[in-house]
Amino acid sequence: MEFPSQRSGLGGLAYGGDYNPEQWPEPVWQEDARLMRQAGVSLVTVGVFAWARIEPSPGLRDLGWLDRVLDLLHDHGISVDLATATASPPPWLTHRHPEVLPVDRFGNRLAHGSRQSWCPSSPVYREYALSLVEDLAKRYGHHPALALWHVSNELGCHNALCYCEVSAAAFRRWLRHRYGDLDRLNDAWGTMFWSQRYGDWEEIVPPRASTAHLNPTAQLDFTRFSSDELLAQYLAEREVLRRLSPDLPVTTNLMVSSRPGHMNYWQWAPHMDVVSNDHYLDGTLADPHVELSMSADWSRGLAGGSPWLLMEHSTSAVNWQARNYAKAPGQLIRNSLQHVARGAEFVGFFQWRASRSGAEKFHSAMLPHAGTDSKVWREVVELGRILHATGDVAGTRVAAEAAILLDYPSWWGIELDCHPTVDVSYMDRVLALYKALWDAGVTTDVRHPEQDLSRYRIVLAPGLYAVADAAAANLESFVEGGGHLVVTYFSGVVDAYDHVRDGGFDAALRNTLGIRVEEVFPLAPGQGVALDDGGQADIWSELLRLDGAEAVVSYASGPLAGVPAITRHPRGTGVGWYVGTRTDPAATGRLVRRILDEAGVRGGEAPAGVEVVRRLDDERSFLFVLNHTADAAAVPADGVDIVSGSTCAGTVTVPGGGVAVVRERARPAATQRPAR
Ligand code: GAL
Repeated sequence: MEFPSQRSGLGGLAYGGDYNPEQWPEPVWQEDARLMRQAGVSLVTVGVFAWARIEPSPGLRDLGWLDRVLDLLHDHGISVDLATATASPPPWLTHRHPEVLPVDRFGNRLAHGSRQSWCPSSPVYREYALSLVEDLAKRYGHHPALALWHVSNELGCHNALCYCEVSAAAFRRWLRHRYGDLDRLNDAWGTMFWSQRYGDWEEIVPPRASTAHLNPTAQLDFTRFSSDELLAQYLAEREVLRRLSPDLPVTTNLMVSSRPGHMNYWQWAPHMDVVSNDHYLDGTLADPHVELSMSADWSRGLAGGSPWLLMEHSTSAVNWQARNYAKAPGQLIRNSLQHVARGAEFVGFFQWRASRSGAEKFHSAMLPHAGTDSKVWREVVELGRILHATGDVAGTRVAAEAAILLDYPSWWGIELDCHPTVDVSYMDRVLALYKALWDAGVTTDVRHPEQDLSRYRIVLAPGLYAVADAAAANLESFVEGGGHLVVTYFSGVVDAYDHVRDGGFDAALRNTLGIRVEEVFPLAPGQGVALDDGGQADIWSELLRLDGAEAVVSYASGPLAGVPAITRHPRGTGVGWYVGTRTDPAATGRLVRRILDEAGVRGGEAPAGVEVVRRLDDERSFLFVLNHTADAAAVPADGVDIVSGSTCAGTVTVPGGGVAVVRERARPAATQRPAR
């Protein structure tokens, strides 16, 4: 199926954002279209929150305005990603059918007045939504402006977990399907514990607020169920679109980031004709741009290495964090090109024109309240120019040398209550290891633990708490086949049902790692431990015994002084590494560099804070250089920098905060071929 970038006026990389014309009087639309052209916009998402405008009262369709918007955009050569508009039901729907409103874990039915106020299991919502999709698909399925269908919006952003009676009944149906009979469910949930044995399906309720700690397997299953319910909504809408508009690709914008989520996107992505993602910088992180890179790599991983679409990000500040930081000059362009460097072929923003009213009126936009005489607008126009000039990048693939594994059940499982300490966080280690690779200049793929890993020499596996048997076997054969595997603490602990594996901590990966973890020793807040290589660690330590592995680093202080903290286990032709404590950033970086050396992965030659990523195919090679520091940086490169237009023979010098995209004269011989 043809991707939107191939249909767009830009020819290569598409550019645009969410366009919400329903918020503005018609004369403004003309100006919008004119300014979009000025900025080089080629693709906009229309209608995301337009349900109330399209269907002002039950069954009445008001689509004349949308006809005019699509025609206007088409006349200006701008393609449309048309939303199914089902993200936010209008007030009349929930007024008529209050049972559609989600219920929280305390049993409170949430009120209308915000957005996404619908229960994912509601048949009433589903019926109204599909009837709307049907009418939109019939009317616009063959409109020449359309390049793509956009199902709903950020499914599960606010309504992923609903605890109402309708959800409870759907959860029971889902459990019957998963377990077949109650004995199996009772075994899986370990219900002999605390007298929780179920004798009738009707006794089962979602994990609502209760007297004390809830059954952990029930909680995990409820998250799995909730992910499946939202996916079912996507699939139901997609079915209508495929039937009535079979020539257009269908997507839904995911929220791939380090923020906790309830959707297992490894299961969603195969159902998308093109993967698309929304990403917003997290102002609470020390290095938000590194997390951005990870989100982009992860989006590419979900897309199986194929190009993907950055559906939304922000030109400057958002409105929904505690402190919403504006982007520094140049950052809009740099952040955008980070995504492109890592596989994005559409750069989209939320939103085209800043809203004058509503909860997002202080959110940045492509066309800010300040108008066109502004830093943001000038950068928006400049980005349009750069994307146009670099259109030839489209179709190339990202060359990655390492992989990091991402596993949703492990993420969900680690965050459950009643664990040895509240301080262990899944994403904390994922980000730490990813950052160590980023700092070493190693481009990383994000993969699922059961995928074929044989093309990598190094794979990092942080916090694989709930590793499945198939994944454990996959990792073992990766090491035996010559790979370097790096596992961090609280991995291999439980099975898919959150039952502790025979032998306790680390049991699933014991053979691969050559260790035994006898007991864990969580550390008090602020209680650091010294490591005997001069490093520091905190939060977690383990009484670890060697069982084939050698100690690389041991504790030099604390309750386990002298006990191994980091181990190395040669097995087959590879090595299984284990890190049993939370090493600080310096120690983590040192360790990762040592393992990269041993694995023969070279990394980059850029100064600290300068990101270098290569996209290539058999004929073309592009070197993206993104300078996140304040000082000019020189990086080896040979070719033409498309951004500045200058030729580089040997090095490209990128100003502080700036970017370069060098069309390389020749593809470096050492570059590994990207996965197909
Ligand atoms: C996204 C959402 C957009 C807008 C944006 C603000 O979550 O899809 O509609 O709300 O955030 O950052």
